[in-house]
Order: sequence, then C-alpha cells, then structure tokens
Amino acid sequence: MKYNRMVQTGWDVSVIALGTWVFGGTNWGETPQRELVDAVHAAQDQGINLIDTAPVYGNGKAEKIIGIALKKRRDAFYIATKCGLVGKGKQTRHDLSRASIFREIDGSLERLRTDHVDLYQCHWPDPDTPIEETMTALRDLQKAGKIRAIGVSNFDADLLKRSCARTAVATYQGQYSLLARALENEILPFVQKNEMGFLAYGALGGGILTGKYRQIPRFAANDARSFFYPFYQSEDQKSQKRLERLAGLKDRLQPLNQVALNWVRQKPGVLSVIAGCRNRQQVRQNAGAADWDLTPDQTQKLEVLDL
Ligand SMILES: NC(=O)c1ccc[n+]([C@@H]2O[C@H](COP(=O)([O-])OP(=O)(O)OC[C@H]3O[C@@H](n4cnc5c(N)ncnc54)[C@H](OP(=O)(O)O)[C@@H]3O)[C@@H](O)[C@H]2O)c1
Repeated sequence: MKYNRMVQTGWDVSVIALGTWVFGGTNWGETPQRELVDAVHAAQDQGINLIDTAPVYGNGKAEKIIGIALKKRRDAFYIATKCGLVGKGKQTRHDLSRASIFREIDGSLERLRTDHVDLYQCHWPDPDTPIEETMTALRDLQKAGKIRAIGVSNFDADLLKRSCARTAVATYQGQYSLLARALENEILPFVQKNEMGFLAYGALGGGILTGKYRQIPRFAANDARSFFYPFYQSEDQKSQKRLERLAGLKDRLQPLNQVALNWVRQKPGVLSVIAGCRNRQQVRQNAGAADWDLTPDQTQKLEVLDL
C-alpha cells in the first residue's frame, strides 16, 4: 500500500480507501454480514487505513457492521462518516442544522462503537441551513472531542469556499472517474490550492469500469446503479459502446479495476480513492492498484477513449 499525507491533520492515509455504501444492502443488493466484516479485515491486511461510511447507508446498517468489524481494532482505521442526509422511512431529507448534526453524531458513535469519528463530512448541501450554522456546529463537536477533522462532500465551489472561510475543512469528497470529470474545473484546483485532501468516490463507476459487464445490466429501481450512476441507463446510446471499448481495453490493459482506480489516484490533489467493496476478493483486487502506476502514455490513451 502507498500512503498520502493529509496536510491539515498530518495523517498518512492509504491511497485506496474502503467504501461501504454497499454494506447498507438496500441500494446494492444484500451481502451476508460475515463477508462484509471479512472485507474490513481484509482491508486492514492490505494496509488500507481509511474507511468511509454514512448513517444513511442502509439506515445505520453499514455503520453497525463497521462497529462490529472494528470491535478489537478501532485504531487500525481512520473512520470517516457523514451527516446531513437523514433517513426517514424510504425517504431522505437534507438537514445540516445544528440540532440535527448533534443528534446524528451520537447515533453514529453508538453504531460505530467508538467515542470519536476521525473525519466527519457534510454529505450533501442543505439549502435550508446557513453554512455558518453548520460549520460552527462541527467546530463545537471538534472541541468536544467527538470528531477530529471536518470534511465536506458534493458541495459546489461557492459553498466550499464559504465553508473554508468559516473553519478548517480538511477534505472534499466528490465523484471522480474516467466517466465523471466535472470536478476538474473548479473543485480540484481549489482543493489543491488550499492544501485540502480530495477523496474520490465512484472511481469504478459503480462497477462498470471494472469491465465486467458485456451488456448493460438491469438493476432494481432502488439500486444505486439505477438512480445514482447514469452510466447504467441502457437508453443512453453511449452505454453499449462504452462496454465494447472497455472490453477491448481489457484485452490490452489488465486488470481494468486497477486501471480505473489508478487513473484517479494519480491525479494531482487526490488524497485517496474510496473503492466500494462487498467482499475480500474485491478488496484485494482493488488494493492491488497501489502496487503499480499508469505511465503518462497510458493515461493519455485512456483519456482519448471517449468513454
Ligand atoms: N459522498 C457521497 O455522496 C458518496 C456517493 C457515492 C459513494 N460514496 C462513497 O464512495 C464509495 C465508493 O463508491 P461506490 O461504492 O458508490 O462505487 P464504486 O466504488 O465505483 O463501485 C463499487 C462497486 O463496484 C463493484 N466492484 C468493486 N470492486 C470490484 C472488483 N474488483 N471487481 C468487480 N467489481 C467490483 C461492487 O459492486 P458489485 O459487486 O455489485 O458489482 C462495488 O459495490 C462508497 O462505497 C461510499 O463509501 C460517497
């Protein structure tokens, strides 16, 4: 494993992190709990020391599984969880108010079986709460020792700047992959200039960039790939062409999951790539990306592929 320094905290964070949206079950199809616990332990064996989760993943389920997995190894990982996306039955609402954040942190600490969260991230913007209220609440949680560092996710550039003006924001988490490069315009340059760490999610495009599909698969309506990652829309003319191009690439550049992760990992400003994994095999295959680098020529060839 390789490690990058998170400048604002001094932590050395593994360049591949473990993503746990899939642990929630509801949006990705169920996986037996013992396999998920095993995936966390495999991540530790591979040198991964950052785990990303959220209370909204399976309505607390992902955090609970992490709590079980880390019972005797809390110190092996920096735990990054989130606030502001609050589950209510099958619906979710955006709430970054002080009262809601203070309620949410206690729930997360209980499920994660810990007395502190290392990185506490605003999951999505909340248009109804002034960002100053949110950042003050997070700073107060930091002073109380319940969280160590503050991060934001999915904020636009303006909201990010206003957050940073209020308090020290250590990380920005956003979607970044060969299929989703919008953050290169404003967010990544800002993050770099301000010595924040960029945490990339969706680097595997929800799995499509592993090249494992020959046809666009059909998932249930509540599956993340049906509503969150647009590359799975079979009506999109590009989808089948993309699969064909990936299949062609697979014959020349193996393994493709590592190619996709390394393309993101090697971009300037990227602190760590959060790879979602549902079992030990996926963890090991993804952690292996840290063992080699794409050459500049390979990177350039990937970028002209028009995926
Ligand atoms: N801040 C946010 O708003 C936000 C949004 C999205 C994600 N995230 C975080 O980022 C993490 C990563 O994103 P993601 O999980 O949505 O997508 P991702 O990492 O692009 O894809 C993960 C999925 O790809 C498949 N996969 C992973 N490794 C594989 C391998 N080696 N071979 C074949 N298939 C493999 C698995 O699904 P199958 O086994 O079903 O194919 C896995 O669930 C999340 O888990 C979460 O922690 C944050």
